[in-house]
Amino acid sequence: MELTIALLGFGNVNRALARLLQRKAAALKTDHNLTITVTGISTHSRGQAIDPAGIDLNAALAAYAAGSLAPLHKGAPLADTMAFIEAVPAALLVEATWMNPRTGQPATDSDRAALQRGMHVVTANKGPLAYAFRELRDLAKARQLGFFYESTVMDGAPLHSLKREGLPVTTVNRITGVLNSTTNSILSRLEEGVPFAAALKEMQDVGLAEADPSNDVDGWDSTLKIVVLANVHMGADLRPADVDRTGIGDVTIEQVQAALKEGQRIKLLCEAWREGDAVRARVAPTPLPLTNPLAGVMRTSGGVTFEMDTLSSLTILEGDSSPDTTAFGILADIVNIARGRYRLSAG
Ligand SMILES: NC(=O)c1ccc[n+]([C@@H]2O[C@H](COP(=O)([O-])OP(=O)(O)OC[C@H]3O[C@@H](n4cnc5c(N)ncnc54)[C@H](OP(=O)(O)O)[C@@H]3O)[C@@H](O)[C@H]2O)c1
Repeated sequence: MELTIALLGFGNVNRALARLLQRKAAALKTDHNLTITVTGISTHSRGQAIDPAGIDLNAALAAYAAGSLAPLHKGAPLADTMAFIEAVPAALLVEATWMNPRTGQPATDSDRAALQRGMHVVTANKGPLAYAFRELRDLAKARQLGFFYESTVMDGAPLHSLKREGLPVTTVNRITGVLNSTTNSILSRLEEGVPFAAALKEMQDVGLAEADPSNDVDGWDSTLKIVVLANVHMGADLRPADVDRTGIGDVTIEQVQAALKEGQRIKLLCEAWREGDAVRARVAPTPLPLTNPLAGVMRTSGGVTFEMDTLSSLTILEGDSSPDTTAFGILADIVNIARGRYRLSAG
């Protein structure tokens, strides 16, 4: 089977995907009889390229590094992102772009436009899920298209495909997770006596925290992730504003070390639970007993526990995350769409 795909965004994640597609090309062919051709790549500031015959990914990586994808473009000039989505000759769009955590835009509009044009969509972006999950899911279903989003929470760990295929007729009653690397790493360093500002700078120096860290430190990233999990796994219809959110800005070395002495570890815990017919959610620094598996989630690893009416509780822990693990989640989605698994998708 031949599958044409377009990449919206060519940042850390989609460049890692480009490398993974090359590394796994033979396995995709052997295991799934699948040949994937990238026919378009679009960025915000480094141009866009469409080539219906297929873009050489090494050339694209080199062109991006040199500052512009334009030399690879074949055809009429493209005005903007929407023009790219309209024009690119691809069956599937991989969207790994930026979004405003307060609105989920412009990624939500991009995903909607691709579905409306008849393309399957794979996104690594939490924004469209946190602000428009039901709408995009229903649009995809109505058009018999795939809309998959494995990498939005815990990168490539198969949380959403687990829900889709591994947990039939199951009601998830509670979700707890440690889902943000930056805050988790800072809390780990506070335990070791490293001051907050120094711990944050370490994360920025290795490229794991943004120059403006408020998205992580104030709990926005965690908030979007628990909204995604609650909406996808619990059938909720939450928005980020519905979440009771407290960041880690006020957590001190003294607090984390005192908690440790009492056999507890403070984590920025994401929680969603049922209250009658409603689903509520909270993000807050929370002491966990060291016996809780989520207390063992250190640095850039992550973990989530589902409490259900079938399996009492299931915890998934992921080792260190990176754009490479995110790219794997995207590739798994692409393969699963190519295999037609979206036709099973109830949620
Ligand atoms: N990094 C991770 O490990 C990770 C993990 C899970 C999920 N994610 C999610 O994956 C997405 C991408 O992350 P990343 O680390 O690759 O980000 P990044 O390195 O900042 O790259 C973002 C890419 O999107 C492009 N872009 C931004 N707005 C655009 C628009 N309107 N139209 C077209 N392209 C646009 C940027 O263009 P320029 O190249 O011109 O800047 C860049 O190529 C984000 O939503 C992130 O939350 C990332």
